[in-house]
Amino acid sequence: MKLSVIGTGYVGLVAGTCFAEGGNDVLCVDNVAAKIEALRQGRVPIYEPGLEELIRRNVAEGRLGFTTDLADAVRRSLVCFVAVGTPSGGDGAADLGAVLAVAHAVGEAMDGYRVIVTKSTVPIGTHERIRQAVAAATQHPFDVVSNPEFMKEGAAIDDFMKPDRVVIGGTSQRAIEVMRQLYEPFLRTGNPILVMDNASAEMTKYAANALLATRISFMNEIANLCERVGADVELVRRGVGYDRRIGHHFLFPGVGYGGSCFPKDVKAVIHNAHEHGMPFPLLNAVEDVNEAQKRRLVEKVVGEFGEDLHGRRFAIWGLAFKPRTDDMREAPSLTIVNGLLGRGAAVAVHDPEALAEARRHFGDTVTYHRTNYEALQDADAVLIVTEWNEFRRPDFARMKQLMRRPVVFDGRNIYEPEVMREHGFTYFPVGRGVVRA
Ligand SMILES: NC(=O)c1ccc[n+]([C@@H]2O[C@H](COP(=O)([O-])OP(=O)(O)OC[C@H]3O[C@@H](n4cnc5c(N)ncnc54)[C@H](O)[C@@H]3O)[C@@H](O)[C@H]2O)c1
Repeated sequence: MKLSVIGTGYVGLVAGTCFAEGGNDVLCVDNVAAKIEALRQGRVPIYEPGLEELIRRNVAEGRLGFTTDLADAVRRSLVCFVAVGTPSGGDGAADLGAVLAVAHAVGEAMDGYRVIVTKSTVPIGTHERIRQAVAAATQHPFDVVSNPEFMKEGAAIDDFMKPDRVVIGGTSQRAIEVMRQLYEPFLRTGNPILVMDNASAEMTKYAANALLATRISFMNEIANLCERVGADVELVRRGVGYDRRIGHHFLFPGVGYGGSCFPKDVKAVIHNAHEHGMPFPLLNAVEDVNEAQKRRLVEKVVGEFGEDLHGRRFAIWGLAFKPRTDDMREAPSLTIVNGLLGRGAAVAVHDPEALAEARRHFGDTVTYHRTNYEALQDADAVLIVTEWNEFRRPDFARMKQLMRRPVVFDGRNIYEPEVMREHGFTYFPVGRGVVRA
């Protein structure tokens, strides 16, 4: 099948590449010429495990191409995916500027029937606005399908190739049949295609992200309470997770959620509800808890070292909003690093993949280190912010040697308090008792 994917970011690039891998002819479109030029030269602008190799293979075999020419790509394809960003506007509403501009441009370029598929996460009712934007620009027939994306950065290829489910929102049998054909190769394990109306498909994506964010904020509150009452949140987490009604996923307390999806999607649901005259106090609380949680680690630092951190030096392990990505959008590390800098501290940062991205945020205000140990030199403490696997089994003796003081603020509970005690560290986990050296 011939496809165009408009918006070549995390979602568009992964989706386009995986559809090509499934045997389709795919043109990925973006309006950032430098990005398209880099991709044409074989340089992948984001870090996502396995992606580079998959792109190389599909480009070499002639199934995957990159272009800035949206109109040409639309003319060459039956199915046009819209995968541009939908960032938060000032009032929390999702900014649909790019989505609607693309819809209009697709309409202008069409020379016959097209299936226009929304992959971007959009507020409930957007399918109708897309339909109007396309219809205003063309006389040709088309269908609008809502096909939200559930991939996780860091495991995006796997998620796309073996999705738990595929949600297809639409009413046209013709378009739904096209979508079935497209996704069938990815559903050989028997996971379902769920066909529903457009509004329910749009809502499904928001409900999923809002529920996951709610679990995180809930566990962060439980962790904070554990610290006050002397309970161990890691034991509590396991204790509740074995309840099959609850399950183990997304019960990890930490430094708050970040990334390009949860923060903006929670805001967008709240805004969408308000537009329909409905307050959503539960999600307001989820947001408030998350904002507070992003500040918790620095509050613990202040508790230990005092409000004035001049003359202190802190190492940060992990900057990406989660492991196996270089994405720092809304990452808790931004709040944490700025919280330390704002109190006068010197900050030395390390991340296995996000250093280039970090430079765009922090400029010359921090020092950048290619290895985690290098960042520890003369540090008063290290803050674990992202749970990269390579941080889990460090050489504790070497850490102690490098650091001015053996103090660890673990925002992800990647170490065991007993182990830290044995190695002589002062250790601040989340929702568990503090260990004193
Ligand atoms: N990142 C994720 O993990 C994820 C997962 C599921 C859903 N989503 C949703 O998918 C959408 C895209 O997310 P993303 O993370 O890939 O965003 P992104 O910012 O990484 O990518 C968007 C791309 O669209 C391009 N673009 C913007 N306007 C354009 C235009 N008019 N014409 C052509 N290209 C244009 C941008 O240059 C950029 O490359 C969002 O709605 C997001 O909520 C993201």
